[in-house]
This record gives sequence, C-alpha cells and structure tokens, in this order.
Amino acid sequence: DPAGPLYDRIGAENLHLLIGRFYARVGRHPELIPIFPANLTLTAQKQEAFLTGFLGGPPLYHQQYGHPRLRARHLPFQITPARARAWLACMREALRETPEIGDEDARELYAALNRVAVHMVNSAEAEG
Ligand code: HEM
Repeated sequence: DPAGPLYDRIGAENLHLLIGRFYARVGRHPELIPIFPANLTLTAQKQEAFLTGFLGGPPLYHQQYGHPRLRARHLPFQITPARARAWLACMREALRETPEIGDEDARELYAALNRVAVHMVNSAEAEG
C-alpha cells in the first residue's frame, strides 16, 4: 500500500478517540444494549488492541489475548442483521464525530469494518 497502513494514517490518538465515541453510542443503542456488558471499558480496550493490528499497526491483541477467532468469539451473542446494522451505524456516527480522521481514511476504515461485520452475523432476525 503506497499510502502506508491505515493505522499510520489515522494515528493512535485518533483511533482511541474514535473507539471511545463508538462505545458511548453502543452503550445507548437499544438494539445493542442487551448483548453488551454494562461497563464497556474492557470491551473498548480489546477493540483498540484488535483494530491497531487489523489496520496495520503493532499486533497488540495477538500479544495480549492470542488469536482473535472473531467469529467464534461472537457466537455466544445473538448477532442479527439488525444488530450488525446498528453496530455499523454507531461506527458511522462515531466517524462523523471524529473529523480528525479524514474522509478518505474514514471511508476505507468503514468499508473494512463493514466486511468483518457482515461475517459476524450468526442469527436470523428475532421473531415478532
Ligand atoms: C466483542 C458484538 C462486530 C471486534 C464483542 C462483544 C459483543 C460484540 C457483544 C462482547 C463484549 C464483551 O463481552 O466485552 C458485536 C456486534 C457486531 C460486532 C453486535 C456487529 C456485527 C465486530 C466487528 C469487529 C469486532 C466488525 C472487528 C472489526 C470485537 C472484538 C471483541 C468484540 C475485538 C473483543 C473480543 C474479546 O473478548 O477478546 N462484540 N460485534 N466486533 N468484538 Fe464485536
């Protein structure tokens, strides 16, 4: 990648800001509240470690927790298409709240997360 890793373009500080804003939204989204812990501190720390490596920075998640096995780790939670859309909506809004991340980098990040999110769906829409 001639532009260098997305992690370097976004920067660790801006990634940290984004993740804080993202989980603030997750913690008040009615679709997501039922499956996330009330205290999102550790969740946010793990996500920051994961995304650091995922975006081409140091492999912090692997070093601290081992292979992420993301789809398997999400199986205990009912992830419907609606919840995937909710998760992505929180990310889109967090990106909009973080203009420190430029439009082009924001679009690239969102597209990469969208691909992973689709893969995390493990459940049909809830009945009723
Ligand atoms: C953990 C939901 C997509 C990365 C979790 C947890 C939930 C969850 C409920 C457990 C939180 C906890 O116990 O602390 C969802 C939903 C998604 C989604 C509803 C919608 C599709 C993603 C995506 C990524 C991701 C796209 C990565 C790009 C992670 C990581 C963890 C996590 C790294 C922490 C795993 C660990 O416990 O070590 N997610 N997730 N998730 N998720 Fe997701």
